[in-house]
Formats: sequence, structure tokens, C-alpha cells
Amino acid sequence: MPRLDTKLHLDMLEQWRRQRSFPRRLLRAVRLAKQALLGKEIYGLQWGDPEVMQSLSFLKDRYVLPYVNPAHDALEIGPGGGRWTRYLLGFRKLYVVDYYPDLLQQLRRTVKAPNITIINNNGCDFPGVPKRSIDYLFSFDTFVHLEVDLIRAYLENMRDIVKPAGNVVIHYSDKGKIMAQMNKNFSDNDTAKMRGIISDCGFKLREEDLTTLAHSGVARFTLE
Ligand SMILES: C[S@@+](CC[C@H](N)C(=O)[O-])C[C@H]1O[C@@H](n2cnc3c(N)ncnc32)[C@H](O)[C@@H]1O
Repeated sequence: MPRLDTKLHLDMLEQWRRQRSFPRRLLRAVRLAKQALLGKEIYGLQWGDPEVMQSLSFLKDRYVLPYVNPAHDALEIGPGGGRWTRYLLGFRKLYVVDYYPDLLQQLRRTVKAPNITIINNNGCDFPGVPKRSIDYLFSFDTFVHLEVDLIRAYLENMRDIVKPAGNVVIHYSDKGKIMAQMNKNFSDNDTAKMRGIISDCGFKLREEDLTTLAHSGVARFTLE
């Protein structure tokens, strides 16, 4: 039986009121206006801000931040406007690759750092990235749109650039989930197919998250 004397609901209302207090709303408005005026709004936050959305915040804390290391080199595939790139700037070197020059141009507007190398690729390669140099490879909201033949080609090419113990974290479409089936922009992939590609390409699956997101999954894998 629920405890009717719980303070939970009144506390939640109070917390919401505090968040909407006039000084806080004013601060938020000033911050947003400043970003808009300087053209610094991050393209991609409309899909969810990892600072605010609980599921993304969880994935950031589990699959991204623990791996950031100033003695390591990293690579991101499909950075968009830099929604996740901003968390990867603490690596020694960060390569970002994207197939679309316009998206890379958008990234340059919002993310500036001396350790970034921006690369326009052919849709599945890593031109200029030294062999066996990458300690951490990350991609979010990009492979969800790639068909399995392209994902396979990417993983084949990844084998050349990641270090044997380097961690690869890929977010992919899972058509086993109703929310992916309803999204025509999501590719025809699922957990079983993704596991098969990872293993066929010589990687070992280390960890996967099949529950946090309603339309997709996250896999972490290494070569050794
Ligand atoms: C939906 S956006 C996601 C951007 C960012 N990762 C985020 O989560 O906000 C997809 C990104 O993948 C890029 N992209 C699409 N196909 C690609 C491919 N084959 N190789 C590399 N980048 C690709 C797009 O240009 C875009 O930057």
C-alpha cells in the first residue's frame, strides 16, 4: 500500500518551482540568447542534451567520460554539430570524420580546439589516421542510419586504426524495438546482426546496453 504521508510528490513540485524561479529563468534566457547571438548553438541538441536528458547523461557517464584520457588518442565518426565531441576534447588528439562537408563546416563553428583533426571521408574510411593509433573510437546517432553493409565496411577499416586494447563504442539501430520500426530513417539493423558484424570483423564484444534507449543499442568492443 502506498504511504500517503510520503513527501515525494510535494518535494517534486517544490523542485520544479525552484527550477522555474525568476532568477533561474532569467539566467537560462541570457545563456540561450548569448549562444544564439554568437551563432554558438549546437546542432543536435534538438535530439536531446546529454547534460539534461537522463538516458543520454547515463550513456555519457558510462561509455564516454571514463575513457577520456589526456595520454590517449580518440576518433569520432559523424560528429554533427559536436553534441558529443565536446566531451572528447580531453583526449591528447581527437580525429573527427564525416562524409558530409557541410556538417564538418557546422562543427567548425561550434567546436574549436588545437587538438582536433577534422577529416572528410568517403563514408567508411579513415584517411590520414595512423595505423594502430586509436585508443577510443566513438559514434552516436550515426550508425543508426547506416545499413549493415556500410557498418561492416567501417568495422573492417577500423581494425587498421584502433590499438588492440582500444575501445570502440557504437550506437546502432535496433529494429527489434518498436520505436526503431516506427522510424523510417533508422537502418535495418538489430542486436543479433550487430553482434555478428562485430565478431565477423574480428572484434570482441565487451559490453552492451540494450535497455537505455527505446530505439537503439550501444555496443563496446575491442580487438583483443
Ligand atoms: C544525426 S547526425 C548525429 C550527429 C552527432 N553524432 C550527434 O549525436 O549529435 C549524423 C551525423 O553522421 C554523419 N554521417 C552520415 N553518414 C556518415 C558516414 N557514412 N560516415 C561518416 N559520417 C556520416 C552526418 O553528416 C552527421 O554529422
